[in-house]
This record gives sequence, structure tokens and C-alpha cells, in this order.
Amino acid sequence: MSICNGTLPLIVENPLSKLIAQKPYYFTEYGAAYLGDSLEIMKKIPDSSIDLIVTSPPYALVFKKEYGNVDASEYVKWFMQFAQEFKRILKDSGSIVINIGGSWNRGKPTRSTYQFELIVELAKTFHLAQEFYWYNPAKLPSPAEWVTVRRIRVKDAVELILWLSKDLFPKANNRNVLQPYSKDMQRLIENGYVSKKRPSGHNITPKFQKDNNGSIPPNFLQIGNTDSSSPYLQRCKESGLSPHPARFPKELPQFFIDFLTEPEDLVLDPFCGSNVTGFVAESNRRKWIGIDLVEDYLKGSEFRFPKIYR
Ligand SMILES: C[S@@+](CC[C@H](N)C(=O)[O-])C[C@H]1O[C@@H](n2cnc3c(N)ncnc32)[C@H](O)[C@@H]1O
Repeated sequence: MSICNGTLPLIVENPLSKLIAQKPYYFTEYGAAYLGDSLEIMKKIPDSSIDLIVTSPPYALVFKKEYGNVDASEYVKWFMQFAQEFKRILKDSGSIVINIGGSWNRGKPTRSTYQFELIVELAKTFHLAQEFYWYNPAKLPSPAEWVTVRRIRVKDAVELILWLSKDLFPKANNRNVLQPYSKDMQRLIENGYVSKKRPSGHNITPKFQKDNNGSIPPNFLQIGNTDSSSPYLQRCKESGLSPHPARFPKELPQFFIDFLTEPEDLVLDPFCGSNVTGFVAESNRRKWIGIDLVEDYLKGSEFRFPKIYR
């Protein structure tokens, strides 16, 4: 329980207090952020209580970021400790969405296979419901040695996103993530279509003419990560806090929260950084838990919310 700083004192309950026996770093109307190692904090979360885990863990990088990254050779073993805990706390109807970038082998113009080794290992514990590809057109060309100096590789601008589940049929509804129809499709709906068999053998029937309020999205998400003027960045600057160096765009958790959860469901990000996931969950009336090891990242993440409580 806590007193907020408004003009009228309000008693506000931590929405997670009954679930996790630990004081959060801060909490909001819908969620709570915890400071510490998520492997330890997840042990305090009861079995089968989470609807969706959506996260971007530290990648196995050759050029490590300031928050520390695990070496590719150790990565699978390191990550599987977290995956075991994910399995325990996830509901049977729940899903896990992991954004995991690729990595180059040290000193060579070749790619690490760590992501693929991780998929094989994770698929022994979970169902691989589907893999997605996130294309970020704003990615800078790197590693410079191979891409911009010797010009023998191209820009690496696609990241893998794994969707895993405990059950064959996790909660999911693609009607919640429909995209606007293309001009061609709008014309087809208006003008009609002559049924015929495509060269591929697919039978295109008049059903394709039906207006279903939008098109079903592909597993290819084009999202530019170009935030340079958000209130989060402005407030970090005003406070002298460095913004998180590897934030994902809000459209990423937004897509999976819409697709895989309903209002009041509980979303966890065990590597939450600047807590984009918590912010999107809060804006969509989903309960949320965010965990990060680095206090400054959680401090900065407070700026995402109009009101936080302690
Ligand atoms: C790729 S960043 C996540 C960024 C986040 N998606 C955002 O948009 O701000 C990975 C985060 O994992 C955190 N981290 C690494 N190991 C951790 C652990 N064992 N427990 C909790 N957080 C951890 C790092 O501090 C870092 O902020």
C-alpha cells in the first residue's frame, strides 16, 4: 500500500502484491517493476500465473553493450536456465515471445549459429508456434569492417522473433492484429473476382472477395526503430540519465500483446530495460511485471508513466 503525491492523498495498492512477495522498485495502476536478477525474482512468481512473456534478452554479441552480453558459446546454456523458469510460471494457454538478434563470429565475416542452436534447444521444452522476422530499415550498417570498409557483406537489418508455447493451441487471435487492405485488395473487394485455380494449385474462390475488416498480417514485421524525441528520451536528458542503449520499438510488444492476450491478462518482461513492454501493457489494460538488473534503466523507465508509486 502507498500514498501518492497528488493534492488529495490516495491509497493505491500494488496490483502484484498478492502474486509476488517482494517490494517492487515502483508500481503503477496495472503493473510493477522489480530491480534484480530475473532468475531469482521469477522464483517468487507462482506456477501457471503468466499469460505472455514478451522480451528481448541480451544477445550474444561480439561487441558487447554496456549492460553485458553473454558469449555465443555459453549462450544456450545461460538462456535455458531462464527458459525452465518461464515454463513453470507460464499458463498452459500462455505464450513466450523472444526477440533475439544475430551475431558475427569474432574477427571473421561469418555469422554465429547461436540463434539456431537456441531454437533447437527451446523446441525440446516448448512448441515453436511460429517464427517472425523484424525488419528494421533504420539499422546502421555493421560490422563496419565487412560492410562499409571492405564491402563484402550487406547490412544486417532483420532480427528473429520466436513465438513459443506450452500448449499446441495457446490463446491467439489474428483478428486483433489485422492490417489495412492493400489498394489491390480493396479493388478486388469492390469489383469482384473470377474464381480460378492459381499456378501454385491454390483454388481462389469468391470467398477471397469478402471484406474481413483487414488483411491477416504476415510473420514479417517492418518497424523502424527511430525514436529520437519521445518524452522518455527528453526526460532522461533533463535528468542526466543515459537512455537505455537497446530499446525495442513499442510496436513490437504491441503486436504480440494484441495478438496473444486479452485485457487484464498478465504480461512479463524479465529483461525489461526501459520497460517498453510495461508501458504498452499499461496502455492496453494488461497487468504487467518488468524486471531488470540495472537500477538506472528502471529509474529512466519511470518517465514512461504519468504516475508511479512506491
Ligand atoms: C536488450 S535489453 C532489453 C531492452 C528493452 N526491451 C527495452 O526496450 O528497453 C536487455 C536487458 O536485460 C537486462 N538483464 C540482463 N541480464 C539480466 C538478468 N539476469 N535479470 C534481469 N535483467 C537482466 C539488461 O540490464 C538489459 O537492460
